[in-house]
Amino acid sequence: MHANDIRQDIRKLLKERNAVLLAHNYMRDEVQEIADITGDSLALSQEAARTGADVIVFCGVHFMAESASILSPDKTVLLPRMDAGCPMADMVTADALLEMKSRHPGVPVVTYVNSSAAVKAVSDICCTSANAVKVVNSLPDPEVIFVPDRNLGQFVAKQSDKTFHFWDGFCPTHERLKPADVQRLKEAHPDALFICHPECNPLVVALADHVCSTSGMYEYCRKSPARRFIIGTEAGILYRLRLENPDKEFILASPALICPNMKLTSLEDVLASLQTMSPVVKVPEEIRVPAKRALDRMIAIPRD
Ligand code: 13P
Ligand code: SF4
Repeated sequence: MHANDIRQDIRKLLKERNAVLLAHNYMRDEVQEIADITGDSLALSQEAARTGADVIVFCGVHFMAESASILSPDKTVLLPRMDAGCPMADMVTADALLEMKSRHPGVPVVTYVNSSAAVKAVSDICCTSANAVKVVNSLPDPEVIFVPDRNLGQFVAKQSDKTFHFWDGFCPTHERLKPADVQRLKEAHPDALFICHPECNPLVVALADHVCSTSGMYEYCRKSPARRFIIGTEAGILYRLRLENPDKEFILASPALICPNMKLTSLEDVLASLQTMSPVVKVPEEIRVPAKRALDRMIAIPRD
């Protein structure tokens, strides 16, 4: 089937099913292009909560579709590729987290949204890369347990007076970016600014001119008077950065910055998902209700 026909069929079915197509900023270019809404994890979870659609087609990874299901239990949430998971999310389980909690009684658990619904259900509050500092500092407690991303955790800890108990999780994609990659590119392009995601290793974060979520990067690069940027996050971000800033140059900090899970979903998968109304992601009520509490607490914190 020709790509144009696939796009047409997707749009037609979206209308027929009263469905909204959400795509994370790391999705393939052609999926971002056809999406109703693209965004970072926070924007997409808020959008999932707000939308009047009956069906949410979530082009992202499994935990994102779970968050949509948690926030919108009456809607059908489709994840076109059920095998699109997140290795970082898989690095913590609810049982293992409960065991850590038992070693730190009374200490609140702040859980990065890159986690399963079951883990969120035993957490006090969620955060995304865009609001993590704000979420942690909103808590009255002097200590926090931060799961699962040790890199984001360390980034937040530097901007907080609290004592942190870290989980040893990480994003394998961001972890592949090495300080030497950045140094090499900085030497080759001394006028360029280096912008990176807080999922990067702290040694990489230390080299950054600016550290932010994926949506934060669009805003920063749009407003910055600089003409050239070295980008330290997943390659999918380049699509919109280049589209929105045709007069600026964006250099991916390493060719290894590709998340295989984020690249799984094709237009064919989106179409098949709308045709068959599957695969569906539905979080069971006993997990959904406590997980929603943790997400709601986060969403209640204003973005800026
Ligand atoms: P954000 O879009 O929230 O920055 O998330 C990054 C990420 O790794 C999602 O899997
Ligand atoms: Fe998970 Fe990293 Fe891929 Fe995001 S980029 S889905 S954190 S593995």
